[in-house]
Amino acid sequence: MPLLHPALVADPARHVEPFVPTECLSDEPGTVDLATLRDLTAALAGVPRIWRPVIHHRPDRRWYTRLLLSATVEVWLIGWYPGQQTEVHDHGGALGAMAVAEGRVEEDRYDRNWAITRVREHVTGAAVGFGAAHVHRVANRGLEVATTIHAYSPPELPMRFAPAQSDADVRAVIGTAVPMTAVPMTAVAAHAGQDVAAGAGATR
Ligand SMILES: [Fe+2]
Repeated sequence: MPLLHPALVADPARHVEPFVPTECLSDEPGTVDLATLRDLTAALAGVPRIWRPVIHHRPDRRWYTRLLLSATVEVWLIGWYPGQQTEVHDHGGALGAMAVAEGRVEEDRYDRNWAITRVREHVTGAAVGFGAAHVHRVANRGLEVATTIHAYSPPELPMRFAPAQSDADVRAVIGTAVPMTAVPMTAVAAHAGQDVAAGAGATR
């Protein structure tokens, strides 16, 4: 059975339908397509009564909780205090999507050689999907808190981090095809502050 956060099932006004398509609640392992992931995050972000009572913003670390885990999808709610950002990471080959429920975040996109390719700003209401090879960093570089909702399919794949984490180091490895480092963390961990610092150097 899928695991659902109480925010999704606490009362009839918040029941799962129509926010979560049936394929995202499946007990059979599989992958949900990008459009479905993006639409799911956008739909949830667009209903503050689901996430507003749950979300926290902590100055000491990014705050997060899982809203859904099934055999096909995991969905996370993340609170960003000003100045917080992820490491550069991929999602272990999972498809992903991110929607901004409030505030704004910037997304630095990288190629597979860890070279930064572009920076995009995502504001309240924006929703984007990204493919299995997507590499990025997400940051709240503004003065206000931000809240985002993320979905990944398939769920719980080990993500990978850039071997060198500073901007200067990332530039230094441009064009050298540095292999990614696998760590035993799920995709959301890159968005989860302390966990990133604890796991970034781990390998398996
Ligand atoms: Fe990510």
